[in-house]
Order: sequence, then structure tokens, then C-alpha cells
Amino acid sequence: MTDRLSISQLMDLSGKVAIVTGGAQGIGRGIVDRLHEAGARVVVVDIDESVAGKTVDELNARRQNSALSVVADVSDSQSVDNLVSAVVKHFGGVDILVNNAGIYPFVPLAQMTEEVFMKVINVNLRGVFLTIKKVSQQMINQGRGGKIINITSIDALHPSAVGLAHYDASKHGVWGFTKNVALELAPHKIWVNAIAPGGVTTPGVAKAMGVAAGAQTVENFKVPMGRMGEPDEIGKVVLFLASNMSSYMTGSQIVVDGGALLE
Ligand SMILES: NC(=O)c1ccc[n+]([C@@H]2O[C@H](COP(=O)([O-])OP(=O)(O)OC[C@H]3O[C@@H](n4cnc5c(N)ncnc54)[C@H](O)[C@@H]3O)[C@@H](O)[C@H]2O)c1
Repeated sequence: MTDRLSISQLMDLSGKVAIVTGGAQGIGRGIVDRLHEAGARVVVVDIDESVAGKTVDELNARRQNSALSVVADVSDSQSVDNLVSAVVKHFGGVDILVNNAGIYPFVPLAQMTEEVFMKVINVNLRGVFLTIKKVSQQMINQGRGGKIINITSIDALHPSAVGLAHYDASKHGVWGFTKNVALELAPHKIWVNAIAPGGVTTPGVAKAMGVAAGAQTVENFKVPMGRMGEPDEIGKVVLFLASNMSSYMTGSQIVVDGGALLE
């Protein structure tokens, strides 16, 4: 029998260290804010140094020495090695990894070069492999388990638009990788799950759709709820998976799409 915790204990991440890749803005920022609010010390990993720095300054103003910015490209193994060393040096260890960094350039197959195909695979899939390999080793050495959450997409299950074949391949790959490593890491009490968002209003989507940041682009997605999601709506589900609320879950994928997959 596990202890019956109160609601506030279930959500409490005090004493935990969480790494969020692509955490400077968009969905990553929504995730960072909720994990931080639950008491975790948060590492914002991004290739965009200035936005990551600004995010971390805001978090540290809310709670002293509660956030660290690390500039790293998740598709580069040296970069990922340096990231984990920096986190261990600064915060002493890592308990939660959220693989959120991802790219989705719309390119029809006829125009898709090998270079753009590999770029998407390298960031979205290779990046997940590199961070999980390195961080899970650290978690195993610490001997206190851990939580890994991969942000996939509804495209890990069903295509959402033409021009995303490389993206859909990468996200199906992340979902397969999630299930297999959940199996391998379970004896170490490292629980690995995924979240599959539908359309969420972020700077990345604005750029991909060619609209102003923050604009509702619901016409681009058919959504029964009639609106795009917000980064916080993914952040809340990450908090659920990162916390004791999900104590009997590993190898699962939660769809958070306003019903889009029903269409
Ligand atoms: N927004 C959506 O509608 C949506 C839907 C489904 C899934 N997703 C997934 O959610 C994740 C975040 O998407 P978003 O819309 O917030 O994107 P975004 O472009 O708004 O933000 C992504 C962040 O990741 C960073 N990043 C990009 N490449 C990186 C790299 N190689 N290493 C480290 N950081 C890197 C960027 O600098 C940026 O700060 C992605 O994995 C995406 O596939 C998004």
C-alpha cells in the first residue's frame, strides 16, 4: 500500500529538480511555470539564450536560486552532456526531465530535402534519445527514481496536416521510444510517459502559420472545443505526470487536444 497523501502533498514538487528542454517560451514556458509553482527548481534549456535568460530571471525573482538557464542544442550529444553536468553541479541532481524542444517546419514531400528531414529527426527524436540516455544514467546513479515526460503531438497518432511527414515520423518515433524505455527504466523507478498536444497557441505555431504571435489559428485545426489550447493547459498535465498524482503510470500517452482527434 502507498501512503494516502493530501491533494497539496500530491502536487508538491519541493526539493525536486526539473529540466525542461525548449523551456524558454511556448508550451515549454507553460510547463516551466507550473513545475516552478509546485516548488521544483527548474532548468530552462534552450538554444535561444536571451528568451531563456529572461524566463529564468522572472522565476528567480519569484523564488531565489530556483531556476537556471542552460543554452544547449538537444540534438548535439556534447551539448547534452554539458547540460547534465551543469545541472548536477548547480542543483546537485535531477528528478524530472521534460523533453519539449521540437520543430515543425511545414514542407511538402516534393520539396523536402534530406537536410530538412534530418534536421527535424535530429531535434525531435535524436534529442529525446540523447537527453533520456544521459539523464536516466544520472537518475540511476542517484538511486531515487525519476519522472520523464516527452511532449509528442497528436501527430504521433494521426496526421494533422500535409507538409509534416518528417515531423509525424519523428513524433511516432518518440512515442515508440517512450514505451520501450518505460519498460527498461521501470526497475529503477523511473516512470516515462508522453503528452500528445493538439493545436496550442505558441510563437512556433504563429511562425509556422504565418500569423501574429498569440493569434487564434483555430481555423487551421478542426477542434470540437472550438479554440486552440494554451501552454498552461499542457503545463497542468505535465504537473500531473511529474507529481505523485500519476503514481501508477508509466508508458502512457495523454492526448490533450480539445477533442481534435475525434474529427
Ligand atoms: N504548439 C502546438 O500546437 C504543438 C502541438 C503539438 C505538439 N507540439 C510540440 O510541443 C513542443 C513545443 O512546441 P511549441 O509550439 O511550444 O514551440 P515553440 O517554437 O513556440 O518553442 C519551442 C522552444 O524550443 C526551443 N528549441 C528549438 N530547437 C531546440 C533545440 N535543438 N534545442 C533546444 N531548444 C530548442 C526554441 O528556441 C523555443 O524556445 C514541440 O515538441 C512541438 O512539436 C506543439
